[in-house]
Parts: sequence; C-alpha cells; structure tokens
Amino acid sequence: MTRPIQALIDLSALEHNLSIVRRHAPRARVMAVIKADAYGHGLLRAASALKSADGFALLELDAAIRLRDAGYRQPILLVEGFFSIEELALIEEYQLSTVIHHGEQLSMLSALKRRGGLDVFLKLNTGMNRLGFMPEEFSAALESLKGNPAIGQITLMTHFARADELIGKESVNSQFQLFNTVVAGRNLPCSLANSAAILRYPETHTDWVRPGIMLYGASPFVDKTAADLGLRPVMTVSSKVIAVQDIKSGDAVGYGHAFRADRAMQVGIVAGGYADGYPRHAPTGTPLLVNGKRSRILGRVSMDMLHVDLSGIEGAGVGSPVILWGDGMPVDEVAQSAGTISYELLCALAPRMHVVA
Ligand SMILES: Cc1ncc(COP(=O)(O)O)c(C=O)c1O
Repeated sequence: MTRPIQALIDLSALEHNLSIVRRHAPRARVMAVIKADAYGHGLLRAASALKSADGFALLELDAAIRLRDAGYRQPILLVEGFFSIEELALIEEYQLSTVIHHGEQLSMLSALKRRGGLDVFLKLNTGMNRLGFMPEEFSAALESLKGNPAIGQITLMTHFARADELIGKESVNSQFQLFNTVVAGRNLPCSLANSAAILRYPETHTDWVRPGIMLYGASPFVDKTAADLGLRPVMTVSSKVIAVQDIKSGDAVGYGHAFRADRAMQVGIVAGGYADGYPRHAPTGTPLLVNGKRSRILGRVSMDMLHVDLSGIEGAGVGSPVILWGDGMPVDEVAQSAGTISYELLCALAPRMHVVA
C-alpha cells in the first residue's frame, strides 16, 4: 500500500477565486502572487489555472524564468527586486519586471544596455518599514529612473501592514493618504492592494491589485471565513487512519504522553506528521475530518503520524478517510488552532508530499 497522505490541488477552485478577485476589483489589472511555489501549490500548476491573470508576482528569479520559459507572456514581477548585476542581465534577457526598493538597485541599473526594455515598480515605504524608499527619497529615485533610458514603464507601489486586521483601518488610511500625497501629480500607474485590501478597501485598488492568499481559498481575516468571502479551498490534504488503539481511562498517547484519556476510547493513528508539513505545534483539539465527521487531534504530532479521537465516529477504523485541511476543513481553522496563519501551513507543505491535481 502506498502511504495514503496526499495534497489534492483543485485548479477549478483557483480559477473561481480569481473570478472573486475580479468581482471585487473590476477595473484593476490582477497580478497573481505566486511566490513560494504559489504558496505551496506548485508554480506551473497554479499558473496554468491563473493563465488569465494580467501579470504574475513572485520573488525567486529561477521560478520567474521557468514561468517565462513555459510561455507566459504577461508581466512577471520580482517583488524583492534583484541582488546583483548578473541577475539584472537575466531580468533583461527574460523580459521580467522588477521592484526597485533601494538606492543600490538604482546604481546597478546604470549597467543596463538596452533602451526602454525594463519595466519597474518603484516601491514607496508608507509605514510597513520593510521595503521601499522613504517619502523624502522617493522623488529623487523616480527622477533617477526617468532619466535612465533603459527603463520602460514605471509603476508606483506600496504594501499595507495591517489591512487584514479588525483594527487596521486607521493604519491603512494613513498609508494610503501618504502614498497619494507622495505620488500626486506623477500620473503613473499604481499598485497597492493585497488580498485583504482588495476585499476591504476598494479605494486602494488603483491600477494593479496583487492578490495572494485569497487565490488559494483562505481568508486574510480572523472575522470572516473563506466561505463567507465566497472563496473555495484549493489545497486539500487528505490521509487515512492506518492503525487503531483501544485505550483505557488513564492511558496516554504519543511522545511525552501529552494527552491522557479520562475514559476508555478509540484512538486512530493517521499517516501525516510534521515531515509532511502538518504543524508540530498543533495542540490537542485541533480539528480534522474522519469519515467526513469533525474530530480532533490528540497529543503531540510526530514526524510521520498523528493521533485522532475516534469517539462517536461511526464505522471509523483502519482505512477511514481523513481530511487534515481543505475541502470541509478550512485551513484557517487548523492554522488558528496551531497558533499560526494559513499562509504558513500552505507554504510549508513538505517536498515528500504526493501532490495531485
Ligand atoms: C508585495 C506583496 N504584494 C502582495 C502580496 C500578497 O499578499 P496576500 O497573500 O496577503 O494577498 C504579498 C504577500 O506577502 C506581497 O509581499
């Protein structure tokens, strides 16, 4: 028997979620964010379902080249930019676009030979304090780009720090206002909104939106589920019960005996552990489905297996199907129980996982 754990990627859900982006931002062009192997879903697999996107954003140069080699003609944006002149030469060769976020990158651009060949996104730091020029440096950076004959289209961008938070409105407004003040009168296309801003702050949509997590069918918010937002899960990680233990009251299970039964119960052993990408820090009580019914994990997740409570699940036994997250078991719920976010679980899918689409 093949080890039964697998990740099923539903490409029609990916297409559907892109249509939800378009519904929210009908006038903006959509730059689908497919960094980190399309948030763990597989770069080319995801791109094939997102082929109608107006552009792609990612940060791994080798992945961008693979995408171009696969025949995608849309703008492909490197969101961290480039790190050396050698990379810049490849960016030109493959007609990629790049974010420009610090002065060293501006200096390296003077090495470019072709005229008007490189489209850039100039990044303004409006308060995230991660990447981008400070407002007082922005004008000089823009003039430097405008004076460089190698530069083609210039788009202005920023990134929100708190668009996903219930109390984020003030912060988004302040970043948005600062952006508008700094870029006023420039008459250049702009790009600001990630998934949370696409869904909650329509005024920020401007010319290009940059959705990531919502494409993959997870919610950026704690107060709204993906289903509330009309999103469909793209990745379903399923497995099976591979052993059953009948334990007595007082018996404990797994490493550290981290769960002790207070009654006799049936415990299922599921093929799936942290070496598959299931979070080791998920505590007892983290939800999953067995035979289509909600249950909970028990004790400590091991490298290749985890324990599940089979109480009250009719017909449960060896071979019972399990859904760790995905269809019927929102990845956001599992992530929340494990003290993390869906992004981390999706991206952390292990290389050994058998993926089917
Ligand atoms: C610059 C930039 N834009 C857009 C996104 C997409 O964000 P989200 O997945 O929250 O939609 C990211 C993701 O981190 C990002 O770094």
